[in-house]
Amino acid sequence: MAIPEDVINEIKYRNEIEATISQYVNLKRRGKNLVGLCPFHSEKTPSFTVYPESASFYCFGCGAGGDVFTFTGLMENLDYIESVKLLAERSGVTLPQDGYDDSMTKIKNTVYDINRETARFFHNYLMSPDGKWALDYFLGRGLSLSTIKHFGLGAAPDSWDALIKHLKSKGFTIEDMVTANVVGKSQRGTYYDRFRKRYMFPIINIRGNVVAFSGRALPEDEKKGGKYVNTADTPVFKKSLNLFGINFAKNHCEEKIILVEGNMDVISLHQAGFQNVVAPLGTSFTSEQANLLARYTKEIVLMLDADAAGQKALLRASGILENTGLKVRVVVIPDGKDPDEYIKKNGADRFKALLSGAVSDIEYKLLMAADGIDVHKDDGKLKYLSLAASIIADEDDIMTRDVYIGRLSDKYGVSRTAFSTKVDELRKNKKRYKHKKEVNDIIRPRFTAGDINPDKRVHPKAAAAEESLLAVLLKHPDFYIEAKEKLPPEKIITPLNRRIYEIIINTLDSGRHPDISVFSEKLIPSEIGYLVSLQNGDKAGNNAKAVLKDCIEVILEEGIILNSNPDSDTSVEDWASYLKNMIERKNKEN
Ligand code: UTP
Ligand code: MN
Repeated sequence: MAIPEDVINEIKYRNEIEATISQYVNLKRRGKNLVGLCPFHSEKTPSFTVYPESASFYCFGCGAGGDVFTFTGLMENLDYIESVKLLAERSGVTLPQDGYDDSMTKIKNTVYDINRETARFFHNYLMSPDGKWALDYFLGRGLSLSTIKHFGLGAAPDSWDALIKHLKSKGFTIEDMVTANVVGKSQRGTYYDRFRKRYMFPIINIRGNVVAFSGRALPEDEKKGGKYVNTADTPVFKKSLNLFGINFAKNHCEEKIILVEGNMDVISLHQAGFQNVVAPLGTSFTSEQANLLARYTKEIVLMLDADAAGQKALLRASGILENTGLKVRVVVIPDGKDPDEYIKKNGADRFKALLSGAVSDIEYKLLMAADGIDVHKDDGKLKYLSLAASIIADEDDIMTRDVYIGRLSDKYGVSRTAFSTKVDELRKNKKRYKHKKEVNDIIRPRFTAGDINPDKRVHPKAAAAEESLLAVLLKHPDFYIEAKEKLPPEKIITPLNRRIYEIIINTLDSGRHPDISVFSEKLIPSEIGYLVSLQNGDKAGNNAKAVLKDCIEVILEEGIILNSNPDSDTSVEDWASYLKNMIERKNKEN
């Protein structure tokens, strides 16, 4: 069921696109429009554009685009109806009645309900006499009862169907339990609890919903069934988009967020009074997670385990974080293997001191580069200095570069001018390479028109004319009568453009304006991005009326050529002579 147009318009009016996007993206004015760094892919030069006039946005880098609802949906991981509801709520608009839930929203709500009930089940079990083995474990690791409650920790009993029985008694179907991934289905078709005999950590998203679980094995079982079992991706959960602890950290992070490796580190630091802590969910850190963090804070303190794997992960994560424009500092944990152990051994004050002494990312890299090199020998010194020069060359701030050039040339007794020249040289090369890469990224965006409309490759000429036609109609809806008369939808050659054309015509026929929210209900995000690029591009030209006429002609003509195509059982010879004829005809025309 569609939400009435006037309600949509009211919500749009109250959630101005510029103001809404500014909550997430730092925008700068450029003429009539605004630009900023795209929140949907990582980039260093802004290609994300907001068009206040048409209340839309488009990223030239990745092709994402749409209106205020599409934007909110992409940012908050919501479908169209959910975004409308969220923005309505934020701006105090009451939706007439609740009949809008499409099937996806229904499934998501059921999965949320199952997760909430499952978390309750695990928690109650932990607190029951039967769960003593698990409660003792958490208490033994130094967690207080109030911390255990705060994080909703729990335990899964040693049973193949305790959860299934419980959820059944609450009225959930077995299929929905499988969808929520708390229950698995064997090849023989039998169902079983996915989490058995494990300490359970619910994963809670920004909006406070339980979206997944992480289950830790008993220490003696770690080797048997895997140390952790996590929820796979479900309709409400994508591992790479979530962080453990973000539901708490989001309210304590204006200054900085501490990124640690494990759930236990988050909980332990939290209990010691550090609430701005998150952990990736056992995956290697992703750029989506970095983007999520960049929306809440300016600085990340990386505090990964002191082992080799942790240090490798750290270098990777720091690169990804810096790409989103976040300031990165690194804490090297001097003793104990992870933050959890450190704070237990040394207390909150020592931890605080450690935190304030966090070395900057560049300092850390310079430190690490010396690993395994004997800098007291000449060749070792040279090797180290050239690594160091490359690290310094990556630094964008000239003052910072100057400081480290000074420090290292002093320390290793080389001429400052020589070292500085070396850094500049490297910097120039890197810049050239980076520029080339950025240009390539823009030329080859994530979704190109060819990917969105695959038939464009087969019918390039028709598709180009169709794109101009759509651009004209989006800019001048009043031309639609003429278009409709001369060009009925079935004459449009590529299916995607035909579908869009039909939506435009039907919308105008019903007296509604074809703006993006109309399409948001019917097209997928990449298609909406394509549409927004047509709407804001210059394909409609200066003389839209003439463009319209030309486009219609080309499309009709291409249709005729297409229909006069020989059918598939013609012989190769016929086909060749047909092609020859067609080429000759074309040549005569020109
Ligand atoms: P760790 O092995 O460091 O575990 O993995 P931990 O959190 O410190 O647990 P304790 O202290 O031994 O109890 C760090 C994180 O990586 C993920 C988990 O999220 C864990 O918290 N992980 C690790 C997995 O998802 N699967 C694994 O097999 C191992
Ligand atoms: Mn640990």
